[in-house]
Amino acid sequence: MEQKRRGVRLVLFPCPLQGHINPMLQLASILYSKGFSITIIHTRFNSPNSSNFPHFTFIPIPDGISDLDPNSISLAHLSLLNINCVVPLRDCLLRLLSNHNITTSSAEAEPIPCLISDAIMHFTQGVADSLNLPRLALRTSSVESFLSFAAFSVSWQKNCLPDSQLETPVTELPPLIVKDLPMINTFTLDCMYQLLGSMVDQAKASSGLIWNSFDDLEQSALATLSQQFPIPVFTIGPFHKLFSASSSSLLTQDHSCIAWLDTQPPKSVIYVSYGSLVSIDEAEFVEMAWGLANSNCPFLWVVRSGMFHDSERVGPLWPDGFLETIKGKGCIVEWAPQQDVLAHPAVGGFWTHNGWNSTLESICEGVPMLCLPCFGDQSMNARLVSHVWMVGLQLENKSERGQIERSIRRLMVEKEGEEMRERVASLKEKAEVCVNKGGSSCKSLEDLMARILSF
Ligand code: UDX
Repeated sequence: MEQKRRGVRLVLFPCPLQGHINPMLQLASILYSKGFSITIIHTRFNSPNSSNFPHFTFIPIPDGISDLDPNSISLAHLSLLNINCVVPLRDCLLRLLSNHNITTSSAEAEPIPCLISDAIMHFTQGVADSLNLPRLALRTSSVESFLSFAAFSVSWQKNCLPDSQLETPVTELPPLIVKDLPMINTFTLDCMYQLLGSMVDQAKASSGLIWNSFDDLEQSALATLSQQFPIPVFTIGPFHKLFSASSSSLLTQDHSCIAWLDTQPPKSVIYVSYGSLVSIDEAEFVEMAWGLANSNCPFLWVVRSGMFHDSERVGPLWPDGFLETIKGKGCIVEWAPQQDVLAHPAVGGFWTHNGWNSTLESICEGVPMLCLPCFGDQSMNARLVSHVWMVGLQLENKSERGQIERSIRRLMVEKEGEEMRERVASLKEKAEVCVNKGGSSCKSLEDLMARILSF
């Protein structure tokens, strides 16, 4: 049933990375389904496909990095966006707000109560303040990882510890151990400190924080958050239970792998994907390839052409004999319809980098994980998966083929994996309950709408 339109327009501004665009557009779809009109202001770099969202208004703004190869994006570029977009976003919002005061056209006459922007686009708080517009921040990763970014000085101190202490628990940030903390070196220190510090400070200054997470999943981190951040908090995830990420995919999803999955036995296939940003070197790639082949488990592997450290290289250089060895056992695509893949009955495990979207999507389909986190929030998400929820096991970085093969078999065919599958099935049920009527995320969404309408 079509929701009665409210005559209220929400303006959203995503961070232009796949793992951030997906949850922002899902949030927009959720709010649209609740009767709000939607305008998405976005950078020209990695601009979303507006034709998949015919009910939304899209407005591009200049960003100064639109010619950049999306595979080369770095922390420094995110910092640059926080500078380059100040004036264009302010001008754009000013135009929308003043059109509202003078126009007679129905769309433009709708009041705009607030701006909703990605937490990492921290400059948006200053822009909103200058226009007297409340801002709600969307943090697209786990609450746990946000807390550790907020404790930046702890990470910095621990980064100075010798390697022998990598496994030591971080008492300030349970359940993390030293090696889970963000890697900070003197080269990235200034950039990270500035970006993450501002993200946290400006989130604190916002009129509320929205999370793509749910209460039962991150209870203890949410309790700590409420002590440290005395602002309204809305845990309304997992968003993709309500709207799929497919329509905001920047790359074309190759659906042919679903037909291949149809030919495989139930829970036999390991799905392998490192998301949209991680890159690997030649040696890691070769070990991955032979580890997968030697495990004897069927696999579906996402190999992006831009996933190699060597940026000159287009596409993979397959090790000699590999493609012949895996005939019938392996399916390789450049980009998959991930949600459909994880929901497929043939998929029994997910070898992931633990980007937050992938982690949530795996939980919601009851798929246990083999975790190989690479940077940022991923190691903290992986710690939750392997040691708190116990629905996955961790692979060591730079694992060699023998370790990979053993880990895959532990997850896919041994009792240990079966137990993880049972535990993740129970988390899957909790995720279903929370988004249904009366569930915690459903109630939190009502609180969010009340907050928006109170501005
Ligand atoms: C980035 C960071 O790396 C991650 O740590 C952070 O939590 C969010 O931003 P990314 O690396 O792309 O994201 O990973 P992830 O968060 O897992 O998001 C990837 C998205 O792309 C998921 O929604 C997934 O469904 C989608 N995807 C992935 C596809 O549609 N097809 C694929 O083949 C792989």
